[in-house]
Amino acid sequence: MALLAVLFSSLLVVSSVAELSGKIGINYGREGDNLPSPYESIQIMTSMKVGQIKLNDSNPEILTLLSGTKIHVAVTVPNDDIIRIGSNETYAEQWVRNSFIPHYPNTLIRFVLVGNGVLNSDIDGNRTALYDSLVPAMRGIKNSLNAHGIKNVKVTTTLAMDVLQTSFPPSNGTFRSDISGTVMPRVLKFLNGTRSVLFLDVYPYFAWSANPTNISLDFALLRGNVTQTDPGSGLVYTNLLDQMLDSVTFAIEKLGFHNIRLAISGTGWPSAGDIDQIGANIYNAATYNRNLIRKMTLKPLPGTPKSPGVIVPTFISSLYDESRKIGPETERHWGLLHANRTPVYEIDLTGSRNMSEFKPLPPAENNQPYKGKVWCEVAPWVNEVSLPSALSSVCTVDNQTCAALAPGGECYEPVSVVWHASYAFSSYWAKYRNQGAICSFNGLARETTVDPSRGRCNFPSVTL
Ligand SMILES: *[C@@H]1O[C@H](CO)[C@@H](O)[C@H](O)[C@H]1NC(C)=O
Ligand SMILES: *[C@@H]1O[C@H](CO)[C@@H](O)[C@H](O)[C@H]1NC(C)=O
Ligand SMILES: *[C@@H]1O[C@H](CO)[C@@H](O)[C@H](O)[C@H]1NC(C)=O
Ligand SMILES: *[C@@H]1O[C@H](CO)[C@@H](O)[C@H](O)[C@H]1NC(C)=O
Ligand SMILES: *[C@@H]1O[C@H](CO)[C@@H](O)[C@H](O)[C@H]1NC(C)=O
Ligand SMILES: *[C@@H]1O[C@H](CO)[C@@H](O)[C@H](O)[C@H]1NC(C)=O
Ligand SMILES: *[C@@H]1O[C@H](CO)[C@@H](O)[C@H](O)[C@H]1NC(C)=O
Ligand SMILES: *[C@@H]1O[C@H](CO)[C@@H](O)[C@H](O)[C@H]1NC(C)=O
Ligand SMILES: *[C@@H]1O[C@H](CO)[C@@H](O)[C@H](O)[C@H]1NC(C)=O
Repeated sequence: MALLAVLFSSLLVVSSVAELSGKIGINYGREGDNLPSPYESIQIMTSMKVGQIKLNDSNPEILTLLSGTKIHVAVTVPNDDIIRIGSNETYAEQWVRNSFIPHYPNTLIRFVLVGNGVLNSDIDGNRTALYDSLVPAMRGIKNSLNAHGIKNVKVTTTLAMDVLQTSFPPSNGTFRSDISGTVMPRVLKFLNGTRSVLFLDVYPYFAWSANPTNISLDFALLRGNVTQTDPGSGLVYTNLLDQMLDSVTFAIEKLGFHNIRLAISGTGWPSAGDIDQIGANIYNAATYNRNLIRKMTLKPLPGTPKSPGVIVPTFISSLYDESRKIGPETERHWGLLHANRTPVYEIDLTGSRNMSEFKPLPPAENNQPYKGKVWCEVAPWVNEVSLPSALSSVCTVDNQTCAALAPGGECYEPVSVVWHASYAFSSYWAKYRNQGAICSFNGLARETTVDPSRGRCNFPSVTL
């Protein structure tokens, strides 16, 4: 009897692991201008041997184009739909009937991700209502799939590392107090009960770039030549990615759950960025993603120090550099490919290519912080017609930012909208950067180390 029980439980584990694909996934984001069509994009991904694709929605055109391919798919139920879907199973059934059933099983949908970052600390919307609706929405969709006889699709949600209050050392991993007593246990109970997988955005780049003096770049880039021992657990780490994953596993265990598997819903490294964004370069991006792919495709699977041998389905962000992404410059440089389809650097998603066969990479120029003055100027590619309204909104935030631009003011002349806007962007950014302002202004501005005033008057600057 005891022997049977042991056999039975180990069989269960084997079969549930076998459902998960160890082939490298890609986030197919489409927030860019002049991107190849979905049809071409799927051809490109097929030729790159992409194993899985994650979508930010359940776009019917893309799901139709994916039918008949061998690519596994993760679809997302948008955050805006969660409260409604969670309010009544009728709406969950409606979503399954309209967005899922038309494509399944011809399109190999394997995950339904209910929400993206619903528990992030900066989530928009009615937090109470979202938290209360998340698990009912997940359960509604799972119940509806079950009612349609669909068993091989996992329903889950996507979280980011900021669900953790403490993450270092990994054994100290703990969820934020606003979610640890309420919504997190409900999510975990659902995942445990349905043998589902928690999706996590895990970006060593952000952890390292926020603290490059205390975290080794080699450790962040998965080079495997730096080790760190967790004094709490005794586990030895060779990279930051494993530490981040295990800190979540430790946090989960503190809530009493011991077999929740993790998937990486997004990871990667930006290949370019602003002057104040350390380490965003092609050399590091290629190194990180190549090492990541090797780690995730090695046989036998290494897993993590806390969960050795465990498969961690992994989606790299992203397929393309996406020009319409807002935020700092790095946001527009996560792609493996440029919008014109050319690779940003060579990559082999199967992990079988020997690293020494890749062509040499351009050397990393910005692995040390830039030291000096930086200004924020109108980007050279900007259409001037969009400047007046940006200028007036920047200048009305307070009455000091643009004081020098008033008639007779120090920087009034030359009276050109580009000149005035560059002054206003520099002035605003210099004043508010330490409160989180970035030099972007909806894509109208860029950082520069060359004083845009050319010495005519005093443009405020940031000293790095
Ligand atoms: C998904 O991405 C596409 C392309 O960027 C965008 O048009 C769409 O609004 C996004 N959907 C959601 C739900 O965010
Ligand atoms: C859910 O919606 C259906 C259809 O609108 C309605 O008949 C049913 O009473 C609702 N259930 C609940 C619990 O509100
Ligand atoms: C947020 O949702 C809760 C519960 O669903 C509701 O009671 C509350 O009025 C909502 N708050 C706002 C500001 O809409
Ligand atoms: C673990 O976290 C606690 C509280 O955040 C902190 O006081 C403690 O120093 C941490 N342990 C280690 C080993 O860093
Ligand atoms: C880096 O580590 C040192 C020594 O452990 C600590 O004093 C310092 O606060 C850390 N810096 C940051 C940015 O965490
Ligand atoms: C790790 O390897 C890289 C690349 O070979 C090398 O540049 C770096 O110095 C090594 N770091 C350590 C700590 O050995
Ligand atoms: C998780 O699921 C397993 C198997 O279904 C069950 O035995 C266990 O009690 C569950 N754990 C929790 C904390 O609910
Ligand atoms: C990769 O190529 C190098 C040099 O050609 C060779 O020494 C090494 O054994 C190869 N590694 C693997 C894993 O094939
Ligand atoms: C600018 O605003 C501050 C407070 O908002 C006010 O005290 C000051 O008088 C204003 N200065 C000018 C020149 O309008």
